[in-house]
Amino acid sequence: MKTIIVKNQVEGGKVAFDLLKESLATGAQTLGLATGSSPIALYQKMVESDLDFSKLYSVNLDEYVGLAPDHEQSYHAFMQEHLFNTKPFKESFLPDGMAEDLEQAAKDYDDILSQHVIDLQILGIGSNGHIGFNEPGTSFDSQTHVVDLTDSTIEANSRFFTSRDQVPTKAISMGIASIMAAKKIILFSYGDKKADAIFKMVNGPVTEEVPASVLQHHSDVTLILDEAAAAKL
Ligand code: GLP
Repeated sequence: MKTIIVKNQVEGGKVAFDLLKESLATGAQTLGLATGSSPIALYQKMVESDLDFSKLYSVNLDEYVGLAPDHEQSYHAFMQEHLFNTKPFKESFLPDGMAEDLEQAAKDYDDILSQHVIDLQILGIGSNGHIGFNEPGTSFDSQTHVVDLTDSTIEANSRFFTSRDQVPTKAISMGIASIMAAKKIILFSYGDKKADAIFKMVNGPVTEEVPASVLQHHSDVTLILDEAAAAKL
């Protein structure tokens, strides 16, 4: 894994934007996108740029179960607000958290992923080491699946909702095998709450108890970290 230490999220966004431009210059067709606060500065750079994404595809990592696309905390709404409203793609895919048959929705998403190989995957990381919504214990062989969110993830994400009991308890997430199939991965992490997860991801054993540790087995991962997130490395 290559590690780049940046002063703050704005600088991290610039570094990632340059890597994105390199991927586009070498023919990237499909971007794997993430939500959370960490990628926002990259999306801001994309919005401000003169780049045109209308011939590209995007696939997102995950969506809450039970939040409609127009719910302000849905990941559909997040992507619209931070990127797609100003920079539309040819087609943008997110898992369908409102599907009556969620297992079928997961299979349908895998079909989409099989048609769109991810050239560049953007990731954040949960403080428990989750990537996407792949919580500790998720099989490294997993494809898109329905997830029971852990208490620590519900607690961490409650900051975006009016109260903790409004946070969905389930999500539908791209699996770890699908993330690992991306040709190139950029993972952002900022702040001391992530330092432990970053240490385990980079230096710990590769174990399903720390989902991000699987990235040690990927050949092209760039970590963009601030000093606080990198403090234990
Ligand atoms: C959520 C998302 C993850 C994201 C994580 C960290 O749980 N499902 O994809 O990486 O939050 O978010 P943040 O970047 O806000 O710390």
